[in-house]
Amino acid sequence: MKLLEGKSVIVTGAGGGIGRDFALAMAAAGANVLVNDIGTSVKGEGRDAGPAQKVVDEIREKGGVAVANTDSVAEWESANRIISAALEAFGRLDVIVNNAGILRDRFFFNMSVEEWRAVIDVHLNGSFYVSRAAAPHFKLQNSGCYIHMTSTSGLVGNLGQANYAAAKLGIAGLSKSIALDMAKYNVRSNCISPFAWSRMIGSIPTETDEQRARIEKLKSMQTAKIAPLAVYLASDNDVTGQIFAVRANEIFLMSQSRPLRSVHRAEGWTPETIASHAIASMRPHFYPLERSQDVFSWDPL
Ligand code: NAI
Repeated sequence: MKLLEGKSVIVTGAGGGIGRDFALAMAAAGANVLVNDIGTSVKGEGRDAGPAQKVVDEIREKGGVAVANTDSVAEWESANRIISAALEAFGRLDVIVNNAGILRDRFFFNMSVEEWRAVIDVHLNGSFYVSRAAAPHFKLQNSGCYIHMTSTSGLVGNLGQANYAAAKLGIAGLSKSIALDMAKYNVRSNCISPFAWSRMIGSIPTETDEQRARIEKLKSMQTAKIAPLAVYLASDNDVTGQIFAVRANEIFLMSQSRPLRSVHRAEGWTPETIASHAIASMRPHFYPLERSQDVFSWDPL
């Protein structure tokens, strides 16, 4: 029996990149897959039903079961239609993969409200809408699994991505909240923070030699390398509330925020004693202003 035999899975943004490999791998593992994608540009401009249908055709050619869906994750009504479409096609729903995404990179001081909203709508609001629309079904059947895509742009930091970083760190909070709220219904929720060469990464500006060299290394990180972890998380197991990162052949369990150091003064604090005592004692443990690439500073393995 295959690992995901009999399971019904929704993968959003599965018309290309990492999501396409998720859909192919889950179908190969025996799942019925709803391939959702509006077929838009990296910036989220335009629509094309082609990419979702192409992935469905690929799955069917290999003997798998899949249907295409072109509803946007970024609105409540259309997110509900994605869930209905899977239930209609397969009669059940077991796994949601919130993978759809766009980028509108801009330095914070220049970022427009439109650029902020567009990214928050697809990533953070979209993950909420799709997850929330599926929740009553998961609750009723007393089982379910969510996989959300986060990013080290949010977990660590990156330049020119305030909208994306806020959305992706928000998704980590959303995932943990779902894991807590739905544990009593046997529903699990985890995040994957991928590193993969896709058209999304291809949109990173390459102005300096250093940036160009970094991009060349990123090309060795194949999107298909992320899929085995997603297939595992979608299978029957007890893993929940975790954040994993995957980069080529490396898998990381990421930290979650906990108190790092504490200082105490029985008489309480003044701004002056905070400077002379609290800040002085904690400063050696301050986090530097690191970006993702400073923390993941070695080449992909
Ligand atoms: P991609 O651009 O190749 O794929 C994203 C897909 O989402 C596209 O096919 C697009 O048409 C679809 N999409 C966009 N808006 C949509 C909407 N409103 N409704 C439905 N579909 C929509 O990007 P990639 O790299 O495959 O990214 C997949 C996920 O992984 C994203 O959530 C991204 O933020 C995340 N990620 C990727 C990283 C990487 O290294 N590639 C790094 C960190 C996170």
